[in-house]
Amino acid sequence: STIYRQGALGRRPAVPADFAELERRAERASSAKAWAYVAGGAGEGRTMRRNRAAFERWAIVPRMLSGHVERDLSVELPGGRHDTPVLLAPVGAGALMGADSDLRIARAAAATGTAYVFSNQGCNPMEDCAAAMGDASRWFQLYWSKDEQLVDSLIARAEAAGAAALVVTLDTTVLGWRPQDLNLGSLPFSRGQGIAQYTSDPRFREIVAGRPPQPAAEVTLGAIRTLLAMTRNHPGAFWSNLRSPAPRAAVETFLDIYSNPGLSWEHLATLRGRTRLPIVLKGILHPDDARRAFDAGVDAIVVSNHGGRQIDNAVASLDALVTIRAALGPSPTLLLDSGIRTGADVFTALALGANAVLLGRPYMYGLALAGQSGVEDVIRNVIAELELTMALAGIPDIASITRDCLVEA
Ligand code: FNR
Repeated sequence: STIYRQGALGRRPAVPADFAELERRAERASSAKAWAYVAGGAGEGRTMRRNRAAFERWAIVPRMLSGHVERDLSVELPGGRHDTPVLLAPVGAGALMGADSDLRIARAAAATGTAYVFSNQGCNPMEDCAAAMGDASRWFQLYWSKDEQLVDSLIARAEAAGAAALVVTLDTTVLGWRPQDLNLGSLPFSRGQGIAQYTSDPRFREIVAGRPPQPAAEVTLGAIRTLLAMTRNHPGAFWSNLRSPAPRAAVETFLDIYSNPGLSWEHLATLRGRTRLPIVLKGILHPDDARRAFDAGVDAIVVSNHGGRQIDNAVASLDALVTIRAALGPSPTLLLDSGIRTGADVFTALALGANAVLLGRPYMYGLALAGQSGVEDVIRNVIAELELTMALAGIPDIASITRDCLVEA
């Protein structure tokens, strides 16, 4: 109701309040390549469409005369309490949607009391994002590298940067089939976007330095950007390296080692001894994998198909959530992402058993349109609609959003 009041009093929002218009305007504000990468999905786009269609099969049933005036949106998750059940999903290569993307997102997250999951493929080093957030809540998302020392280095940095949980993304050991990017010849990393966590990492630099010299590289704009990132604290090194193959070596090293296609439950078993942080596994869709994860001692999972970016024609995240909650019972902490667009979607996911949700593309579209304040507005709009939906459904707090609030549509 605060948002309506502000509207009535003439405050102009930074971004459209409805997702369809937000998306249209963000597309107009982006280059074709950036849009293909951020908005696009795997294959024919069936998983992306199915993520949305899954929400249409459930309907919220309003309840009257509850008498509640105040609503408590806070939730307890591994690593601490959150003001709301909405987190910002890790999104790599965000600079495609605006310079210093991750810093702006970090500030917006802190201003709205929303936890931000730093991407391993972020565009600003996690230490800079953490510094921009004060003591606001952040998590770190890890892609498990082939280089085990790099894994430990990233974990140590996340702990030092005040991350409250470690999210390990499992569904991207290889990149999905993304025809639009292939058609346009656009992978963000080729221009150095998305490798700031690597170029700022001491172990990564050690690996780059130890590699045999590469054949002389073309000095491209992307390479210069990468070099700038690597030498940001050493201006002299920038000039002396400008003609060297180092930037290309960084990108090539990154592509070679950022993920481990052979990742297995045996690797995961070592993780508990390598960090004091709660462990969250992201990308689980099968109930047997979910059960195995909790048997292995993880603290939570994110039921996610990576926003439909990995397998085409995959199961919708929301449908997998229903199956996994039914298989595992009420206790394990399940987060959900992929397809959340509105406050009513958040309500529906919570009613079907999610403890919290993550937003991906919507906040990136806010960033594309209006930087930090665009991200803030997207978050505030989703939370405001969630709260209004709770009010109109007679619900005082998050725990009271249960399956009874829905019928099959
Ligand atoms: C992602 N996602 C992602 N996930 C992750 O664990 N690490 C990452 O670096 C990225 N990078 C990334 C880039 C872009 C451009 C997008 C759109 C997504 C997946 C992300 O965390 C989340 O699972 C989905 O975005 C959620 O789906 P919606 O909300 O975008 O539908």
